[in-house]
Amino acid sequence: MSQLNSKFIASSVVAIAIVTLFFALTATGDDDKESALVANTIVPQLKEFKIDRKITKEAQDCITCHTKESKGIVADWASSRHAHSNITCVDCHIAGPVDKDVSTRHMEYSKIAISAVVSPKDCSRCHPSESAEYAKSKHANTIELINKIDPWINHGLNNDVEKETGCYHCHGSEVKITDGKFDSTTWPNVGVGRINPDGSKGSCSSCHTRHKFSLAEARKPEACGQCHLGPDHPQIEIFHESKHGAIYAAEGQTWNWDAAPGSWTAGVDYRAPSCSVCHMSGVNGLKASHDVTERLSWETQAPVTVRPADFKPWPAQNDWKEERAKMVKVCLACHSQAWADSHFERLDRTVHNYNEVYFMPTQAKVDELYEKGLADKTLPMDEKIEIELYELWHHEGRRARFGAAMMAPDYAWWHGFYEMKKRCMVIDEEVEKLLESGKPGKIFNVRGTSAPLKKK
Ligand code: HEC
Ligand code: HEC
Ligand code: HEC
Ligand code: HEC
Ligand code: HEC
Ligand code: HEC
Ligand code: HEC
Ligand code: HEC
Repeated sequence: MSQLNSKFIASSVVAIAIVTLFFALTATGDDDKESALVANTIVPQLKEFKIDRKITKEAQDCITCHTKESKGIVADWASSRHAHSNITCVDCHIAGPVDKDVSTRHMEYSKIAISAVVSPKDCSRCHPSESAEYAKSKHANTIELINKIDPWINHGLNNDVEKETGCYHCHGSEVKITDGKFDSTTWPNVGVGRINPDGSKGSCSSCHTRHKFSLAEARKPEACGQCHLGPDHPQIEIFHESKHGAIYAAEGQTWNWDAAPGSWTAGVDYRAPSCSVCHMSGVNGLKASHDVTERLSWETQAPVTVRPADFKPWPAQNDWKEERAKMVKVCLACHSQAWADSHFERLDRTVHNYNEVYFMPTQAKVDELYEKGLADKTLPMDEKIEIELYELWHHEGRRARFGAAMMAPDYAWWHGFYEMKKRCMVIDEEVEKLLESGKPGKIFNVRGTSAPLKKK
């Protein structure tokens, strides 16, 4: 206390001295001394930092009416960083004169043209780098990719109802609007690669749901687990099995999920990685990225595992060695180099085992059947042998590779290689049967057409 007082007195004395000196100088009118003093004084330039807290009348109208019409939406927005930064409904929903997606029925409520669709292009006005990274990712470009390679949708093997409620819910599809009215087969739609009326790809609310647009929500594994689950891509189940997931379950609720981008720190804010930490976040000096194709060194979901740049339907524009170095850098925030290196050596051996022992030899057997006319290539999924081969790579083959990549031994072995062994027995038996009989296999009806709807 006394120390404080003396400091205060000392600084007051200095201040008084300066003021007295200033008056003394001006009073005597000694110009030389005055200019010498001015020359020795540094006047820092002050920043102009004006925050306009006023909400425009138009934006206020949206809030007032929507507080009555849709309380939940306004409440979510009010608790968001956007509301705190004075970003309002108009900033995201305003429709430009050329926009095709103006909500005509809304003109009844407001003279301002608005659109219900808020695309990555709309967000890019204020978040240009996140939007640009996202546009490069496989997430954003998945529609182009699945249209190129997917056996179901390219051969009419599943009908429209099945596509809408399944595939397109996760992957997205083209949003269609006619005369301001949504086509219900394409909306609602928050798939990662949905194609927006303005031509941009994706939906930022796939991971940051509106209207909170929360960083914390997107960093948690459950945000990814909505789509990354099930028999063919069980990443969330794999995560829960891993030690990382066990630590998350034990104490994740106490971690600091809200830390500002770039400052979210391993060991300080969290003790084990979530999906976001390994695949997206800024960690250990590594830049955060909205391109989930970064940091990958294999295409572990493909029938034959290849490097991402060698994946012909959609070659990644990168070098796998650099991407692996990035992923290893994530591990090094909490592990030693030897720990991380050994992990990836194991992954590489797993990939080799899958490719060479299981997939390639089995595919060769099925190819032999096609050559001999004992299986029919017209449709890819209407014979028993075709479904068996499909599940070999698409289900257990992926599980084995993902299990090894993300530290889940149950998926690598019991749901993975063990199941592959069993399936190979079934395939071997079927191949022998067809070769012995010399007659082609049965072709099944795959029910690719929807039944016509009954009129109400
Ligand atoms: C006078 C009341 C009122 C005002 C003012 C108003 N809205 Fe609405 N808005 C509604 C109602 C009611 C609906 C639901 C319409 C429906 O379901 O057909 C709606 C729907 C919407 C939708 C969804 C549209 C769709 O096609 O699905 C959006 C987005 C929206 N409003 C944004 C805004 C914005 C942005 C503003 C301010 C520029 C605003 N609203 C001003 C009453 C209002
Ligand atoms: C940061 C951008 C942003 C802001 C700010 C914003 N919205 Fe939205 N809004 C969205 C997105 C994204 C969607 C989901 C539509 C989509 O997927 O394109 C949406 C959807 C909607 C819908 C349709 C939802 C439904 O379930 O039918 C309404 C209505 C709406 N917003 C109203 C508002 C109102 C009112 C405000 C202000 C209180 C507001 N929005 C502020 C981005 C925003
Ligand atoms: C008019 C400018 C503007 C638009 C348009 C906009 N944002 Fe933002 N956004 C901001 C500002 C400003 C912040 C606050 C930054 C801060 O507080 O650090 C922010 C913060 C965020 C955050 C971080 C939230 C948190 O919890 O820290 C996310 C995520 C986000 N925006 C997503 C979106 C998405 C998705 C869209 C489009 C649907 C969008 N934004 C549209 C200006 C905008
Ligand atoms: C629950 C969400 C979900 C559903 C439903 C879904 N997918 Fe997927 N799909 C995914 C995810 C997640 C991946 C990524 C797999 C990976 O890399 O681990 C994927 C991968 C794919 C791939 C591989 C792309 C590549 O890079 O090689 C194709 C093709 C595909 N899906 C098509 C479809 C089709 C067609 C349907 C419907 C018959 C469908 N999916 C249903 C989530 C889904
Ligand atoms: C696949 C899920 C996913 C999608 C889709 C997604 N984000 Fe994010 N976003 C995240 C995650 C995870 C973080 C946290 C990254 C971190 O920890 O640094 C984040 C962080 C952010 C931030 C905070 C700043 C930063 O770089 O960390 C902004 C702003 C943002 N996202 C905007 C967007 C916009 C705009 C889009 C659409 C173009 C979008 N996001 C789509 C998962 C997603
Ligand atoms: C709305 C559904 C959805 C959500 C949410 C989602 N993904 Fe995906 N993800 C997909 C689909 C679909 C694919 C397959 C794209 C393809 O291969 O065509 C995919 C592919 C991927 C890939 C493989 C990319 C490549 O180049 O092979 C990674 C890694 C990934 N997602 C990570 C994440 C992470 C991390 C999150 C959460 C922060 C997340 N995803 C959230 C649907 C989703
Ligand atoms: C400890 C870090 C870590 C965590 C946590 C993690 N992953 Fe991974 N993930 C990896 C590694 C390593 C690979 C293999 C990378 C390679 O290709 O070299 C991988 C591969 C993938 C792939 C396959 C990509 C492809 O197409 O080959 C997807 C999809 C994926 N992860 C999604 C997720 C999701 C979703 C979660 C959370 C539920 C998650 N990951 C959690 C490290 C992690
Ligand atoms: C935020 C810190 C953190 C990051 C980042 C992280 N880990 Fe871990 N990891 C842990 C902790 C803590 C454990 C538990 C160690 C123990 O068994 O005591 C663990 C355990 C493991 C295990 C042991 C699994 C088992 O069941 O025996 C492996 C393997 C592993 N991590 C690999 C990786 C790899 C590879 C990466 C990078 C792709 C990575 N980790 C990133 C914190 C992290």
